[in-house]
Amino acid sequence: MQLKETIEKRRSIRKYKCEEVPNELIEELIECARLAPSAKNRQPWEFLIVKNNTKNEIADIMLEKEKNMDVSLERKLLNANSSVKATAKIIKEAPILILVFKQYNENWTTGDTLGVGGAIEHICLRATDLGLGSLWIRDTVYSQKEIAKLVGYENMELISAISIGYPNEDPKQRPRKKLEEILKWY
Ligand SMILES: Cc1cc2nc3c(=O)[nH]c(=O)nc-3n(C[C@H](O)[C@H](O)[C@H](O)COP(=O)(O)O)c2cc1C
Repeated sequence: MQLKETIEKRRSIRKYKCEEVPNELIEELIECARLAPSAKNRQPWEFLIVKNNTKNEIADIMLEKEKNMDVSLERKLLNANSSVKATAKIIKEAPILILVFKQYNENWTTGDTLGVGGAIEHICLRATDLGLGSLWIRDTVYSQKEIAKLVGYENMELISAISIGYPNEDPKQRPRKKLEEILKWY
C-alpha cells in the first residue's frame, strides 16, 4: 500500500473479530514505533503488550474510576467520563492492548509527548497497512496511575493505549475540516 493510501484508509476501529493477532505482527508494529523521530532522539517510550485477563482488569479499573469520578469537579469541567465506559468495553473486546509509556522528565514534557504521539501514529498506520484495525486511546488517562501499578510500571507515565485486532467494521471517513480552514499561506 502506498503511504497516502494507508493514511486515507486508516480509521479508528472500535469493533474487532475474535481472531488472534500473531505476535510477529505486533512486533512489526513496535518496530515501526521504534523508527519514529523523537526530540533529541531521546526515544522516551516503552510499549507493553497486554491480553486476556490483564486487559480486562485494565478495563475494570477504568470503569471503577469512572464511577468514582461522578461527583468530581473534573468531570463537570472536562466532561471527562463521557467516553470512558465505551472505551473500556472496546478494550475488553479487542484481542490486544498496547500500553504506551513515557519516561518522566520534567524538562522534556512537551518534546517527549510529541515524540510518543508520532510513534503511536506509526503503529496505527502500519496496522492499517497489515490489515489490522487500531484505536488510539487516551481514556486511560484518568486511571493511569492505577493501570501503571497493575503492570509494574509506576516509574513511567501511561500516556496512551492502542487497541489492536482484525476489524469487524468498515467505518466511513470521519468528518475533517476543509484544507482552506487549516492551511494558510503567509
Ligand atoms: C490522542 C487521541 C486520543 C483518543 N482517545 C480515544 C479514546 O479514549 N476512545 C476512543 O474511542 N477514541 C479515541 N480517539 C479516537 C478519536 O476519537 C478519532 O481519532 C477521531 O474521532 C477521528 O476518527 P478516525 O480516527 O476514525 O479518523 C483518540 C484519538 C487521539 C488522537
